[in-house]
Amino acid sequence: MDVADRIPRADLRIDGDRLWSRIVALGEIGAIEGPNGEQGCARLALTDADRDGRDLVVGWMSDLGLEVAIDAVGNVIATRPGSQPGAPAVMTGSHIDTVATGGRFDGNLGVLAGLEVIETLEQHGVETTHPISVAFFTDEEGARFAPDMLGSLVYVGGLAVEEALDVVAADGARLGDELARIGYAGPLPCPTAVAPAAFVELHIEQGPILEDEGVTIGVVEGVQGISWTEVTIVGRSAHAGTTPMRLRRDPAYVASAITTFVREITRTFGGAQVGTVGRIDVHPNLVNVIPSTATITVDLRNTDDVILMQAERALADEIARLEAAEQVTITTRSLARFQPVEFDPATIDLVEHTAAALGHSTRRLPSGAGHDAQMLSRVCPTAMIFTPSVDGLSHNIAEYTRLEDVTAGADVLLQVLLSLAGPAPARPPHEPVGGTEGERLTE
Ligand code: GLV
Ligand code: MN
Ligand code: MN
Repeated sequence: MDVADRIPRADLRIDGDRLWSRIVALGEIGAIEGPNGEQGCARLALTDADRDGRDLVVGWMSDLGLEVAIDAVGNVIATRPGSQPGAPAVMTGSHIDTVATGGRFDGNLGVLAGLEVIETLEQHGVETTHPISVAFFTDEEGARFAPDMLGSLVYVGGLAVEEALDVVAADGARLGDELARIGYAGPLPCPTAVAPAAFVELHIEQGPILEDEGVTIGVVEGVQGISWTEVTIVGRSAHAGTTPMRLRRDPAYVASAITTFVREITRTFGGAQVGTVGRIDVHPNLVNVIPSTATITVDLRNTDDVILMQAERALADEIARLEAAEQVTITTRSLARFQPVEFDPATIDLVEHTAAALGHSTRRLPSGAGHDAQMLSRVCPTAMIFTPSVDGLSHNIAEYTRLEDVTAGADVLLQVLLSLAGPAPARPPHEPVGGTEGERLTE
């Protein structure tokens, strides 16, 4: 069997330079520079920079002749029609918001590669049976408004839109107000009424495995479970010089004890368990004052939900122990909790065979990061394609993926989407065709 038998259009390739130039152009919006000239991105969800990035991408979508729809939580879905009216769209996409110290590839690659696939199809006059949609979902990062993957979660009916609009960020902003302020509170209902036929997301790996093993394409089998908890510790503010140690009720000390314990959890529960304290806010944050409060966040992840629950229980027990021992008051609030997700076996196979047929080395792996695909997998067959991250770095301004790997990933995406969307059946122009309704989503 040669390549032409194993992929739908062996003659088609995306234009890597055109895709790269869009990555660079989008990366100019919210650009931040590192000490060694690295270029990263700060486009936190629903900020002015996010609006400017959205405007740029929506402009590209319109230039490609796509029908652009915006839903009530600000998800943007651009669709190229298929030849069969009523057929549900095959969807790709990701997110364009970033963390405050992010890179140019996380999320952005998946959205812009989707546009590149569409442009390639347009250029070569290729019709598909199903429509193809390219989406970017609101607030994937969760760095401003928790939980992460918020837009795609609402899209699939996992969170009520009213609840999402009422989420308040650490900076005090309300999501619904910010969405309206930047002009992206759209009219389309959310959750969507019709599930996509399939969803495939191209994303950078954000870890070291592909680069370490010299593999070009990661075939993602699923996403590990995610548990985010905000911990607020209230003690008693007092003088740093005069207060005997026995009288202290010190939230900063407790915050550091919890941070150390999170590292111990990862030792106790083995290699797959990861744990991070990413935010530490101390008040009043002065050199000679024992703080009155500390607020920290704990991020625990594991591919095994039973072990993740044990890790959560260990954390809760330690928090209770510290509360009593240190005479502070501790409250916890869950910011996000998602179980591990397994992607669709047939779609995983399709990604693997397509990448191999294109001559790329492949490796199956789980995703350590959260992705919109894990939400879409609740309603349609879903898979992901990973490309290598230089030095395994992401959520870092030095995040980088090489042009040849970006191109390889987008070529795999092109052929996978063509396999799923189907070649248009040959039929005379203007012949009426019957539509098939997509699967209706139920709450
Ligand atoms: C999203 O980027 C996450 O995995 O935290
Ligand atoms: Mn991402
Ligand atoms: Mn990210």
